[in-house]
Amino acid sequence: NYLRISPFSSFLFSLAPWIPVVGLEIHAQISSNSKLFSGSQVQFAAPPNSLVSFFDASLPGTLPVLNRRCVEAAVMTGLALNCSINKKSLFDRKHYFYADLPAGYQITQQRVPIAVNGSLSYSLCIDNKMSQMVTKTVRIKQIQLEQDSGKSLHDDTRCQTLVDLNRAGVGLMEVVMEPDMCCGEEAAAAVRELQLILQTLGSSQAVMAEGQLRVDANVSVHHPGEPYGVRTEVKNINSIRFLAKAVDYEIQRQIEELENGGTILNETRAFDSKLGCTVPMRDKEGKQDYRFMPEPNLPPLILYDTKSLPANVNHQQVINIDWIQERLPDLPSVKREKLVEQYGILPEHSFTLLNEDGLAEFFESVVKQTQMKPKKVIGWILNDLLSYLKQHSLTVKERSV
Ligand SMILES: *[C@@H]1O[C@H](CO)[C@@H](O)[C@H](O)[C@H]1NC(C)=O
Ligand SMILES: *[C@@H]1O[C@H](CO)[C@@H](O)[C@H](O)[C@H]1NC(C)=O
Ligand SMILES: *[C@@H]1O[C@H](CO)[C@@H](O)[C@H](O)[C@H]1NC(C)=O
Ligand SMILES: *[C@@H]1O[C@H](CO)[C@@H](O)[C@H](O)[C@H]1NC(C)=O
Repeated sequence: NYLRISPFSSFLFSLAPWIPVVGLEIHAQISSNSKLFSGSQVQFAAPPNSLVSFFDASLPGTLPVLNRRCVEAAVMTGLALNCSINKKSLFDRKHYFYADLPAGYQITQQRVPIAVNGSLSYSLCIDNKMSQMVTKTVRIKQIQLEQDSGKSLHDDTRCQTLVDLNRAGVGLMEVVMEPDMCCGEEAAAAVRELQLILQTLGSSQAVMAEGQLRVDANVSVHHPGEPYGVRTEVKNINSIRFLAKAVDYEIQRQIEELENGGTILNETRAFDSKLGCTVPMRDKEGKQDYRFMPEPNLPPLILYDTKSLPANVNHQQVINIDWIQERLPDLPSVKREKLVEQYGILPEHSFTLLNEDGLAEFFESVVKQTQMKPKKVIGWILNDLLSYLKQHSLTVKERSV
């Protein structure tokens, strides 16, 4: 795909194909009623600064109180992604100065995150043919719990920056994937599968348009047998389609730059969705020293499994990893397998059914109520229902058929 013959480079060099390397970092807002360390409500699009406690605004004397629900959501997510859950994890302060971070630091898990060493399998089709699907796996390096920042709103006409702290302190899971992907389509498919898993678990609503799932991508290119090239980081991509475009644009840009004798700067870039290209970002983080230090106001986070659970323990006060494991719902991959097995439908159709919220359930209820052949129902869904919904901009749940 990425073989380029350049008239300026040596013969050997020009025949060597480029290998793109893509790694992702995903921030998922945890679906919970209150923030990670305070009792303020979590809600999208509430009036500015209406969901801010003294702790969120960093008033002196306020202390963090860890939200159990956020920890459970992270454990659930870690287990679903085949991670080892650390029975002891630690909180750290990451310092940087920005108007939407009143404390001057973010509480995160730098030294020991809650979950490590997982994997995510995802499928994608070759040449856009649904009938030729391949399954790939990306390793999950770690999942850490951390606070979201507030939002800065730049009002260019009045030369002002306004700060909204509603988002400050909302719980995030940062999912770090190893650079096991090699194009925009793979990155997009991996994030889509992660999104479906989070939504199935209920650990995040993962709506990208509402900023509940935000993706950063590391991109580099190199020749076979050579070390990885210098990487650029494309930040804050907020749709799956843009992710695929941003990654592919960046790969192409780097190859062209290198083939024209240029070099790649290890810089941060942003995707301009209107122009369809990545542009260097004025970097708020730059070559900063984050001055990580242990968070003194939070003890280590201790989790148990059934074996290590002390006797006479108050179950309201501890989290048992095995208990959560036993209650994990069927993940999308398992649901697809069951649909194929139970109804004899094609694997690619099981992907279509799971791709829309509520569609698989609708399919099952139609089969049950009409006693029609599952394949007929699938045909009707693919040919009639989905195009009808699309035409009228409706979701499956909003249909009136
Ligand atoms: C995770 O993997 C790393 C590298 O393979 C290993 O050193 C570490 O012990 C693993 N951690 C756990 C908790 O399995
Ligand atoms: C976890 O690992 C199993 C076995 O390797 C695999 O079948 C499953 O798809 C993995 N889970 C995810 C979310 O990829
Ligand atoms: C990119 O790589 C650097 C260095 O390994 C790492 O610190 C950063 O978190 C990575 N970012 C993404 C988006 O993977
Ligand atoms: C990125 O560039 C800085 C200097 O600009 C350098 O110190 C750092 O090692 C570079 N990192 C990588 C991964 O190339």
